[in-house]
Amino acid sequence: MALTVVMSAGVLQTSAKSLPVYRDPSRPLDERVEDALSRMTTQEKIDIIHAQSKFSSRGVPRLGLPDLWTDDGPHGVRPEVLWDEWDQAGWTNDSCVAFPALTCLAASWNPEVSYLYGKSVGEEARYRGKDVLLGPGVNIYRTPVNGRNFEYMGEDPYLASVMVVPYVQGLQDCGVAACVKHFALNNNELNRHTTNVIVDDRTLYEIYLPAFKAAVQKGKAWSIMGAYNYYKDEHLCHNQRMLNDILKKEWGFDGAVVSDWGGTHDTRQAITNGLDLEFGSWTDGLANGASNAYDNYYMARPYLELIRKGEVGTEELDDKARRVLRLMIRTAMDYTKGDGEMCSEAHYDAARRIGDEGIVLLRNENRVLPIAKAQGKKILVVGENAIKMMTVGGGSSSLKVQHEISPLDGIRAAASSCGMTVDYARGYVGDVTGEYNGVVTGQNLNDSRSAAELIAEAVGKAREADYVIFVGGLNKSAGQDCEDSDRAGLELPYAQDDVIRALAAANPNFVVVNVSGNAVAMPWVKDVPAIVQAWFLGSESGNSIADVLFGEVNPSGKLPFTFPVRLSDSPAHALGAYPGVKRADSDVWDLEYKEGILVGYRWHDTKKIKPLFAFGHGLSYTDFTFGKMTADRAETEDGTVTFTVPVTNSGNVAGAEVVQLYITDNKCSVSRPAKELKGFAKVFLQPGETRDVKITIDRDALAFFDADRHEWVAEPGQFTASAGPASDNIKTTVKFKLK
Ligand code: BGC
Repeated sequence: MALTVVMSAGVLQTSAKSLPVYRDPSRPLDERVEDALSRMTTQEKIDIIHAQSKFSSRGVPRLGLPDLWTDDGPHGVRPEVLWDEWDQAGWTNDSCVAFPALTCLAASWNPEVSYLYGKSVGEEARYRGKDVLLGPGVNIYRTPVNGRNFEYMGEDPYLASVMVVPYVQGLQDCGVAACVKHFALNNNELNRHTTNVIVDDRTLYEIYLPAFKAAVQKGKAWSIMGAYNYYKDEHLCHNQRMLNDILKKEWGFDGAVVSDWGGTHDTRQAITNGLDLEFGSWTDGLANGASNAYDNYYMARPYLELIRKGEVGTEELDDKARRVLRLMIRTAMDYTKGDGEMCSEAHYDAARRIGDEGIVLLRNENRVLPIAKAQGKKILVVGENAIKMMTVGGGSSSLKVQHEISPLDGIRAAASSCGMTVDYARGYVGDVTGEYNGVVTGQNLNDSRSAAELIAEAVGKAREADYVIFVGGLNKSAGQDCEDSDRAGLELPYAQDDVIRALAAANPNFVVVNVSGNAVAMPWVKDVPAIVQAWFLGSESGNSIADVLFGEVNPSGKLPFTFPVRLSDSPAHALGAYPGVKRADSDVWDLEYKEGILVGYRWHDTKKIKPLFAFGHGLSYTDFTFGKMTADRAETEDGTVTFTVPVTNSGNVAGAEVVQLYITDNKCSVSRPAKELKGFAKVFLQPGETRDVKITIDRDALAFFDADRHEWVAEPGQFTASAGPASDNIKTTVKFKLK
């Protein structure tokens, strides 16, 4: 074995034969943890449970236990900041590949792509020496105004559960811990530090917890990040119910709970209520510049003092230290994990593939798309999002990329390869800034022309063009798709609706490409023949968009959340359950999730409110026909049923369809949603090819959470399984009975 270890300062001099247990990879993890713990002083235990810099925590140099390095997450590896400040460290070797936002990943409905994502970003993190990547995020899409929806996986707990697991596995296969965030009930950014969520247990267990549970139990996530807000009047970074009762006791989580940055507020609660590793606290010491400001963290000197005074014991400290040691051994002390790689061709290919699979074709009247490739034809591209870099901004997921292909550049490259020309018009001026924590895009997007002048120019050019492609939507500035703020409404900003309407009137071959991580209102929907939902696609953005527009890739993405017609159609807003009610005597906002389990399509289906575009919707350039679904049994005792759905590609090009399986409980003692997603499969078919798609469900797919009994209950009786290419396009159903 090549395990000779020689530590500095003559502390440890040992060879493979005499390795101390905690350093010996052949020994079981928990033996190593106990051995390390037994050698540590109380001070050393305290030292490893809080930060020592913006993104790192200390190891135990005396024992050769390494520091832990974390970094954001989740779309690429964040550039280096200063030891103690958010400003850039100014490295020249920390530019990364930006992968598409997690909404795009969820829209791929392809778990294989999710593994590829985790693996690729894990290799980048590895190369940069990171032990913990702060992501992925799986907070449920409760309202379209949440500024951070783009970092999450949509509105459906089943879809998010299936998609999060391979990401975690791919990442951790690189020896980099996932830090699944933000646990839990962090579903809006407005008042994120002062919102106290009030939610019933059934809703908590059915809607807001499943994706976290899957990440922990199936993905085996090594760490989890608490959320900023309150639940049951306790901050979620030290929350007895969420962290101790549910995460650690019910789910058996053996990893470390990491606070969100600055999410710790109280030493005693931090000690008893499940927090293991404190990051980002802005303590007085930090502001005043005490000798080592990090000693002032809630879980630093104040904790030690309570122990020394005998006011608290060391049982909790040992548990925290054990969990941090486990994290350390799994990551920083995994000496087999390899070096990783950065900005490799494979990573760009992965980013492009994820983008290609996640882009959603929302509408395609008269088959305007794909663009017919014809020598000499003219394409006009309009809109700020065709040129604006989108990898900078949005909050902690902001990146510094090696390169980012803009939609305009991607379209130009694809057009020129088939002899077509591309012209550009700005159309509107939105947000011309391009800076986050000192990373600057370097783009000068200033344009002093009036809105009328910009529209006149675009319309004039549109009349002369064979195709007009408008690329707009949201961006990563505050009040849009951005951390720490929510959107003011559902509408597109910067009067983009006016530009779109004018272009629709000027040219019938008109395509709108919406770049966003959230649903937007489309009052012009009927006037625009083709609409593409393009998300934030990262480094390969323009290439993926061009792949789909020119038909190099047949779109196969499906919406991971509902697009409502108007905000008031969305459950939280229909019921006045956002952003809650401010308490008279404090800063706290009580926010009751009044819609309960009826989130997203569960609400729209049950209340019969037609959405603009439904959950699961997404078109293709080919046609698919669904045959009659069959079940392998009419009655089931344990809930297991296998459904077979024959799907045929009845069009002319190869493509992929997502067979979505929804379950309805036909009669139940509690009210249930009209239907719920409980299975899906993405199938690639050549023209003329038919495949029998098989989906197996078990008892979990039939059960609801009975809060009184605190258990999942599947009531005997009749259920209906429905299959189709979208939640609002059911093609075939079959009934079966649970005995
Ligand atoms: C965000 C986290 C992020 C952390 C570190 C916080 O403000 O909520 O998602 O990982 O900062 O940047």
